[in-house]
Amino acid sequence: MELPPLKIRNISVKYPIIQGGMGVGISWDNLAGAVAKAGCLGTVSSVGTGYWRTEAVRTINGRPLKPANFHSSANLKAILRSAIAKSEGQGAVGANILCAVTDYERQVRDSVEGGARYIISGAGLPLRLPEYVGDADVALIPIVSSPRVVDLICKRWKRHGRLPDAIILEGPKSGGHQGYTYEQCLEPEYQLEAMTPRVYEACKAWGNIPLIVAGGIWDRKDIEKFLEMGASGVQMATRFIGTHECDAADTFKRVILGSKKNDIRLIKSPVGYPARGIVTTPLVQRVLAGHRPKIACISNCVDPCNHGEESNRVGYCIADSLADARGGKYETGLFFSGSNGYRVKKLQPVQEVIEKLVGLRADDDTWEEEREVPEESPFVRAVAATAG
Ligand SMILES: Cc1cc2nc3c(=O)[nH]c(=O)nc-3n(C[C@H](O)[C@H](O)[C@H](O)COP(=O)(O)O)c2cc1C
Repeated sequence: MELPPLKIRNISVKYPIIQGGMGVGISWDNLAGAVAKAGCLGTVSSVGTGYWRTEAVRTINGRPLKPANFHSSANLKAILRSAIAKSEGQGAVGANILCAVTDYERQVRDSVEGGARYIISGAGLPLRLPEYVGDADVALIPIVSSPRVVDLICKRWKRHGRLPDAIILEGPKSGGHQGYTYEQCLEPEYQLEAMTPRVYEACKAWGNIPLIVAGGIWDRKDIEKFLEMGASGVQMATRFIGTHECDAADTFKRVILGSKKNDIRLIKSPVGYPARGIVTTPLVQRVLAGHRPKIACISNCVDPCNHGEESNRVGYCIADSLADARGGKYETGLFFSGSNGYRVKKLQPVQEVIEKLVGLRADDDTWEEEREVPEESPFVRAVAATAG
């Protein structure tokens, strides 16, 4: 099967692959630019852009102060412009903006000004996204977890004369925050394969909105499987951590390269959703052991955390820990990964990964499949217990 091009609104790219946004700072200009240059959609993460160039923002002990500096407007626009320059006119560059962030509306407007051709938005319902974008010719792509959410968003957006230009269904094998409860993440009916036909039908009913699927997609065989189920494309993130261009520090990449299947689990997050990451690292281990020092909220990054209230309940600050992971601080970092993280065995150029995915190279990496382990996680239970 030859992979078809991907068409979303007025964007048309060679391959049906979107590189998923990865915050904090795992997908900025280098990764997004390289993915776009290779003929796909390269997504800049809009969260915590103050860390891109801390010299340009106000900090306290190296932490960007308040949302205006943590989610820096100037840095976000500069990252997008840099990614667009690196794409050399190929593919397309867009932004991933979490609904849960403080200053959501401003980040949407900044992304439009920075030249994003599309906005992907999840971790909450992006109900007002069309209003914030206004007349700008930007494709709007909500992330959903069920057909019900498709209906909810479409009904609301229709009142403003718009429908989503595509929909991303993200299943529970994805990295970072999940759109499901911990229990749902483990149940067969919420897995991507089971949910795809249902969400496809909802997209069809609203006028054949292109469906993109995400979470646990690794190789060409996976891509073909979901295209045959009606998807127009896939969103992939974890596999792109194993690239030279990925914007994370080498330590972050080494943590993923060194991980075992069993090390990648769901943990509790101050954002209010379970999150998938590496649980054998020092920060998570300290939290599990009940070590929970008082956390002072400096960046006020997401609304659900309520100025650090949830951080103190859960035992770590999401902004500080994700930024530390990106910066290579092993002791204090939180390392997000999709359930396939253990399959990343080496670093390679983005171009090579894409050539393997689209079948231009026959030598796709092979992995010894590790023994299937039950997802049931003692870690999440322990974190939940300590969270009181
Ligand atoms: C390190 C990491 C950080 C992520 N951060 C975000 C984020 O900030 N916003 C978001 O919508 N999704 C985020 N995701 C989810 C990805 O965009 C993507 O949809 C998902 O990981 C796809 O599954 P895969 O990693 O198995 O390919 C993140 C994933 C990873 C691995």
